[in-house]
Amino acid sequence: MIVILLGAPGVGKGTQSENIVKKFSIIQISTGDILRNEVKNQTGLGEKAKTYMEKGELVPDELIIKMIENRISKTDCANGFLLDGFPRTIEQAKSFDQMLEQKGLSLDKVIYIDVNDDEIIERLTLRRVCPTCGAIYHLKNKPPKQDMICDICGSKLVQRSDDIKETVENRLKVFKEHTKPLIDYYEKQGKLSSVSGLGNVDEVFGRISKILGNL
Ligand code: AP5
Repeated sequence: MIVILLGAPGVGKGTQSENIVKKFSIIQISTGDILRNEVKNQTGLGEKAKTYMEKGELVPDELIIKMIENRISKTDCANGFLLDGFPRTIEQAKSFDQMLEQKGLSLDKVIYIDVNDDEIIERLTLRRVCPTCGAIYHLKNKPPKQDMICDICGSKLVQRSDDIKETVENRLKVFKEHTKPLIDYYEKQGKLSSVSGLGNVDEVFGRISKILGNL
């Protein structure tokens, strides 16, 4: 099963991926997580990506495409994968189509999660994440049991540097300009299903599960 989760920043792609991975035994590939790891480890790619990410801009296509090409060639992707945060431009989508074609694979489904801007700003500015295990929290909707401590691994939670309001607003602008056209792109391929990302995490997961369960 090869599936793309498409949606603006903060609609819940990472949160839903955690549930999908568990229920459908599929691996998640998050370009944002890979890039943050590269930044943390101060690699060449990380150094290049950092300036774009901090401003809420997209990392150049050629870097991302190469990164995905390498990632999906690994053996753990042999039985399929869930993409979270890729593709984000028409150029990335076209390159991905070519990669799959060369491997004799095909994309099964693109799930577009739709949430309005005001809700997104509230979700992202109050998001806190675990820098060690990647668990995602929200100060109001999903607070950790102990103040600012990860329930899973006990690390101190942090706010992502791109989750301040001004940067979130820029990320939304970038999404509308570069990523939203992918809705049309995949609709034309007959691969798109849209779900509302409003409601609690379980309600949204129920909608996504129904689609994936029918593949
Ligand atoms: P990336 O890490 O991919 O960020 P994003 O797409 O902006 O998405 P987020 O991780 O912010 O949000 P999400 O949808 O996963 O929401 P979450 O589940 O956490 O990318 C970061 C940067 O990397 C980009 O800006 C870019 O610079 C670069 N990059 C990455 N990929 C790239 C690419 N392909 N090309 C070029 N550049 C790239 O949820 C958000 C919050 O809401 C949480 O607090 C959560 O608890 C809460 N929440 C979730 N669901 C619900 C619900 N149903 N109800 C209430 N609260 C909820």
